[in-house]
Amino acid sequence: MKNFISIRDLSKKEISDILVLAREFEEGKHKDILNNKVVSCVFFENSTRTRLSFESAVNQMGGKIIVFASSDNTSIQKGETLCDTIKMLDKYSDLIIMRHPNDGAARWASHNSNVPIINAGDGSNQHPSQTFLDLYTILKEQKKLTGLKIAIVGDLKYGRTTHSLSMALSMFDNELLFVSPKFLNMPDYVKSYLNERNTKWSEVDSIDKIINDVDVLYMTRLQKERFSSLDEFEKVKNYFILRKSDLNNVRDNLIVLHPLPRVDEIHKDVDETKYAKYFEQAQNGIYVRKAMIATSLNLIKGDQNE
Ligand code: CP
Repeated sequence: MKNFISIRDLSKKEISDILVLAREFEEGKHKDILNNKVVSCVFFENSTRTRLSFESAVNQMGGKIIVFASSDNTSIQKGETLCDTIKMLDKYSDLIIMRHPNDGAARWASHNSNVPIINAGDGSNQHPSQTFLDLYTILKEQKKLTGLKIAIVGDLKYGRTTHSLSMALSMFDNELLFVSPKFLNMPDYVKSYLNERNTKWSEVDSIDKIINDVDVLYMTRLQKERFSSLDEFEKVKNYFILRKSDLNNVRDNLIVLHPLPRVDEIHKDVDETKYAKYFEQAQNGIYVRKAMIATSLNLIKGDQNE
């Protein structure tokens, strides 16, 4: 039984093992290994990609899935706690995949569950399955996961994908450039984590300053739902918009990624360029999520994994 709660809990080898296994799933290996096991997919917060790619992964692996996509029609509306909800779900299923708006909710769930928990995003804290698919895409497109210059752009304060990705990239010896308005800077706890690992990082306030000098441009949306006031959001919502014309002098090997959903931060004319890899990135979610499910439930025995 293995939980996936935070990138902090994982070693470089554990991360690399998931990426190797994801490749095997992409190659069509390990069919039907869930063998009718039941997976709960419970989302207390909106999602398209994460929920549906986990559901698709379970179906493709021969498992059964039980789902709620909102707490609106559950007994949480009657006042039932997260703890009691998890204590029920672990009797109905072999694995719980959960998204929740509160930081730390997945950790809390793992302390109250007898089956593994996969964190599908908790507040502005962590999004480990997104990080696996980000790493998988970088590796696939750049043919390496080390020695890269990677710009992470947008709402770095609230964006959980940027927190877990930065932590993971620090294990693979990359240089990180954080691009955001000052009040949406990367939180200090993430910077401390990077410093402890001697990761080279810097902060700038404009894409123009770095775009011609990076291998990966990781765009993110402003997290409107996490701003304390709409006024604050309106002030910065158009701060970073990437257009095709911005890509005239970039490195030939540049890839533009985005966890999606995008709103306005990547203009549609970027989609037609060779640099745009965000839809392939979303597709890679199926392979890494299969690898996480298989690892959580210890379904791949040593000889199958060779
Ligand atoms: N990237 C991501 O988490 O997308 P969803 O919110 O649609 O799941």
